[in-house]
Amino acid sequence: MSQQVDPSHIMQVGMGFWASKTLLSAVELELFTKLGSDGMTGPQIAEALELHARAIPDFPDALVALELLDREGEGNDALYRNTNATAAFLDKTSPAYIGGILEMSNARLYRFWGDLTEALQNGKPQNEIKHTGRPVFDELYSDPDRLEQFMNAMAGISLGPFNALADKFDFSGYKTLCDVGGATGQLSIIVAGHHPHMRCTSFDLPVVEPIARRTIEAAGLSERVSAVGGDFFADPLPKADVITMGLILHDWNLERKMQLIRAAYAALPEGGAFIVVENLIDDARRENAFGLLMSLNMLIEFGDAFDFTGADFAGWCKEVGFRDVERLPLAGPASAGIAYK
Ligand SMILES: C[S@@+](CC[C@H](N)C(=O)[O-])C[C@H]1O[C@@H](n2cnc3c(N)ncnc32)[C@H](O)[C@@H]1O
Repeated sequence: MSQQVDPSHIMQVGMGFWASKTLLSAVELELFTKLGSDGMTGPQIAEALELHARAIPDFPDALVALELLDREGEGNDALYRNTNATAAFLDKTSPAYIGGILEMSNARLYRFWGDLTEALQNGKPQNEIKHTGRPVFDELYSDPDRLEQFMNAMAGISLGPFNALADKFDFSGYKTLCDVGGATGQLSIIVAGHHPHMRCTSFDLPVVEPIARRTIEAAGLSERVSAVGGDFFADPLPKADVITMGLILHDWNLERKMQLIRAAYAALPEGGAFIVVENLIDDARRENAFGLLMSLNMLIEFGDAFDFTGADFAGWCKEVGFRDVERLPLAGPASAGIAYK
């Protein structure tokens, strides 16, 4: 019996931070962007990234073994290249770049997760607010570089799920959408881009509004997409046929979650749709490891905030008065929870 038990899964998960940090450093050093569509030898990589000679060939070869680089040939003359996936998603010049979330993980979360045990013991945040107790977004946004980094992280993690929502949800019966906590305006831009009949508003804190306005202008969609500044706990939400919230409810405790769901209900007409885009945990809480780990990440970032299942979301929405609630799988671990008024 004991011969059939294999420790490789334990080792892979337990030492997973080796692989994780190797990728995060490669993103930080812009390896995938510098490679672009070219091949580079190990010494050329060392020169381009200003690495010590000791880093070669271990660093690029480890990435080859992790299937994050391709390599042709052997030894000093071997050529390293982007894989199809790293070229699409980790080269900054690609429109599908999602490395922002990895940049922020490298700069912030990697270190904060070192204090996970403490968080499990005391239920308190372990990020920048660990010693100040300031509200998270006040702290994050007090530094313009960190604000920009957080915005890019959100754009990275949400690109796939937002594109999937724009493809899969039937927008034909609606004319207006307000994306609450819309950050760079990404969801509004994607929905307006896919559905020329839709007019969208991206609602977020006033400090974020100029960033959204810039992105909307760059996308050439200022006629149909607007950015509005406000506080979703203090101000009524702009009225719209569809109210969306991407990765918003998971940032808050249950009382605040319910306040936001009630605010969405109030901003919708009869027949309107409230859509959350989250890494909804499966109802049995066994399978969506990313969603469950995201919830631990909310412990690290906020303390009392948490991710939730589709059934949790349906229960909360019914309590507020929504008629029907459904779940729409999007990309990877992300799903939409959709509640109809
Ligand atoms: C986790 S991010 C999600 C961004 C984006 N919706 C997405 O899914 O990629 C949370 C967003 O909520 C915004 N936010 C936080 N507190 C807010 C408040 N009181 N009023 C309005 N927006 C707020 C933040 O500025 C941030 O853009």
